[in-house]
Amino acid sequence: MERAKISDKLYVLGRREKKGGGMLNIGRYYALDGSLGSHVYVDALKPHVILICGKRGYGKSYTMGTFIEEFASLEEEVRKNIGIVIIDTLGIFWTLSHPNYRQEKELKRWEREAKAFGIKIFSSPENVEEYRKKGIDAQNLLIKTSELNSYYWAQLFNISPTDYVAAAIGRAINRAAEELKDYDVDDIIDFLQKDEKIKEEAKIVAENLLYTAKGWKIFDRNGIPIYEITKGGRISVLDISPYPEELKIVIVAIIARKIFEGRIRERKKYEEMLINGKKERVEEIPITWFAIDEAHVFLPHEECIAKDVLIKQWMRQGRQPGVALILATQRPSSLDSEVMSHSDIIICHRLTAQEDIEALNKVRPTYMQGDIGEAVKKIGTEKGVALIIDDTSEAVHVIKVRPRMSWHGGEEPSALIK
Ligand SMILES: Nc1ncnc2c1ncn2[C@@H]1O[C@H](COP(=O)(O)OP(=O)(O)O)[C@@H](O)[C@H]1O
Ligand SMILES: [Mg+2]
Repeated sequence: MERAKISDKLYVLGRREKKGGGMLNIGRYYALDGSLGSHVYVDALKPHVILICGKRGYGKSYTMGTFIEEFASLEEEVRKNIGIVIIDTLGIFWTLSHPNYRQEKELKRWEREAKAFGIKIFSSPENVEEYRKKGIDAQNLLIKTSELNSYYWAQLFNISPTDYVAAAIGRAINRAAEELKDYDVDDIIDFLQKDEKIKEEAKIVAENLLYTAKGWKIFDRNGIPIYEITKGGRISVLDISPYPEELKIVIVAIIARKIFEGRIRERKKYEEMLINGKKERVEEIPITWFAIDEAHVFLPHEECIAKDVLIKQWMRQGRQPGVALILATQRPSSLDSEVMSHSDIIICHRLTAQEDIEALNKVRPTYMQGDIGEAVKKIGTEKGVALIIDDTSEAVHVIKVRPRMSWHGGEEPSALIK
């Protein structure tokens, strides 16, 4: 394939000015004949909502990985102020800690080298043991039990918050909060058993549900402090693949809320620091980018506690406190329509399902000539090629995402082992 010379021109998406650091070199312009043009950068200094979509197998998770590598490669003075938290629903991002020897030829053409990245994984005790055996820094993911209000418990057990069993649990956690402040699932069960107002059958059902929750080994009297999960300069991988979907949603809702609240506090401190004229910037909770693969799980059309936090707090108010999102989904039509309207950078790999194309067309900006469907058709079938819609520069581009330096773990299994 003909390769164009590297141009000195800079294209920075998500930023009006092209100068300054803090840029993620995610790929190069791609011409319809397959040749590559100027390098394409994405602004990492300001919070954005980046939506990656496309049909299965055309590069969504891969592109997300390229973004993560670029964050990890930022200049130190920027990198140290940004925490990356990957919501890994399939348990595929641990391979960031392995060099991508598989695509070395491709990397050479892009003047890059196979490279491993430092990560920290949070997951179930069983997974943590496996990861540690592989030499990866890993820690049990523990959520403070008292972070769950009765709505969260109802979501967790997929019951209505007005259900009698949900009310029984609600009464028990209220007692626990009053008498103990910090508590674990066993304490909730104790209070439930002692509650004389609750019918015996309901107690049995509620107890059963609570024992199931205990079995996930994730709820804990203390939990991991949020500043352990998001740390400046670090890539945290929350491997939530072992948990049922309802629990995944609860985990994302709680962690996203804690980060948001933490950032609001940080912003206050930051303003005070500016007023007092001090330069030192000591941030407990850094500017945080959440990378969420399979984002439709957390941002569906239906009611969902994770969606509440991500849309009402992160998307509507996130610029000020400094929280940002990179979302990937194969089903843009399954996302709450607000997600698309908040996304200021949309990266679309090959997409063929009519309803998904229509979902994108609904937000088609006025500066875009023609249909998104038509534009997406033009990008063809090459993996890693994508259409980018950049709201800041009001421009649409076709790019090829650069090869991963670290191993991509999302490859579909093949019955034929090569
Ligand atoms: N930018 C790219 N450069 C080279 N290969 C790519 C690129 N993007 C995707 N691929 C290939 O396509 C495969 C599928 O990509 P993946 O991101 O796992 O798909 P999905 O969209 O289902 O998340 C990868 O395993 C990789 O081999
Ligand atoms: Mg994927």
